[in-house]
Amino acid sequence: MSVSMVLLASACGSDDGGGGSGSDSTALEGRGPITFATGKDTSGNLKNQVDAWNAEHPDEKVEVKELPESADQQRAQMIQNAQSKSDAYSVLNLDVVWTAEFAANRWVVELPPDQFPDLDKLIPATVDTGKYRDKLYAVPVTSDGGLLYYRKDLLDKAGAQPPKTWDEMTAACLKVQALPEAKGMSCYAGQFEKYEGLTVNFSEAVNSAGGVVVGEDGKPNVDTPEALAGLTQLVNGFKSKAIPSAAITYKEEEGRRAFQEGKLLFHRNWPYVYALAGKTDGSSKIAGKFAVAPLPGKDGPGVSTLGGHNYAISAFTKNKATAADFIKFMSSEERQKANVEKTSQAPTWAALYEDADLQKQFPYLAPLKASIDSAKSRPKVVKYGDVSTAIQEAAYNALTMKSEPKKALTDLQTKLSSLITQ
Ligand code: GLC
Repeated sequence: MSVSMVLLASACGSDDGGGGSGSDSTALEGRGPITFATGKDTSGNLKNQVDAWNAEHPDEKVEVKELPESADQQRAQMIQNAQSKSDAYSVLNLDVVWTAEFAANRWVVELPPDQFPDLDKLIPATVDTGKYRDKLYAVPVTSDGGLLYYRKDLLDKAGAQPPKTWDEMTAACLKVQALPEAKGMSCYAGQFEKYEGLTVNFSEAVNSAGGVVVGEDGKPNVDTPEALAGLTQLVNGFKSKAIPSAAITYKEEEGRRAFQEGKLLFHRNWPYVYALAGKTDGSSKIAGKFAVAPLPGKDGPGVSTLGGHNYAISAFTKNKATAADFIKFMSSEERQKANVEKTSQAPTWAALYEDADLQKQFPYLAPLKASIDSAKSRPKVVKYGDVSTAIQEAAYNALTMKSEPKKALTDLQTKLSSLITQ
């Protein structure tokens, strides 16, 4: 496949081609070494991807600046860097929810879409996350959709099916927990530490009960019976110990480790876990014993929160032409395919989900595509950091029994209404 060759050839001919579209777009000029700021590489494959670029671009090498594992801490470091107008980071690996904030503050530059001709090959919802006020600021490289990982070996043994609803999940747990080999195992965990992952899990619970956090009209609407049903489901999980109390400290990695150690029957996590939990080098106790299904919901299948990461160019970096080419390289079909084969992270290149060979090799691709296709985005607002903090506080207070779920939602509605004004 010569897609990246074509991309590179077109990039070489457009050294100073920035500025074609919007009035305030910055010319993407300057070539030379750059840096790439990104959250901790839990996939283990980033080095291979960057090495592939560096081998072809000896004068435009990319140095990886690895940031913490938690999304909130990555954001804090990137913002601190931008506020001091530092050129320490050239390309930023932005969580899909940060585009509006980074674009509105002009910490990243507008990208001329004509320099990224393959955008129409990417899943449209992912491209949308890279836009602010209809202008492009970031190119999607990985998407993310929540999946329900489950212990297929134990469900089979107990004669239980993967659940479509929360009640079915509870029933399946009771059945499996009666098996001697499931002794001491907990039913379920997601990510419940007070950070971005809690916003994700709270939103999924609300959406999967038929509610919304922010409606189609852009207005918050969490003081509803549906949102209450979603939050109560999680609170009851902690109360009944179906969710282990340790899960209040889980981010993605803590949950993954618990699942891999055989402590959980069901686990909500992102696709990257599939490759790691399936490793046969001794790092996972459950290789060959698990499968994935769509997230369950209140009365039927649940709704995932749309996750993922987009690459953007810092407004303060010198070598913007190199940065743009690196983004094209990393979002190319060839690189995304190489990444799927190694990591099970979700590609944004739509055709990779249709590839028969890949589908056969990676059975999670079909449920993952379904998860992404029906996923709900988090609010697209400039003050996203404050919005997410408010959601995290409300959900955390309810999960730790510091406030009644109803009161937590009423307070959250008031807070969100003052933060999201249109
Ligand atoms: C994953 C998702 C991202 C989300 C984060 C929460 O990295 O891709 O969108 O915000 O998890 O922890």
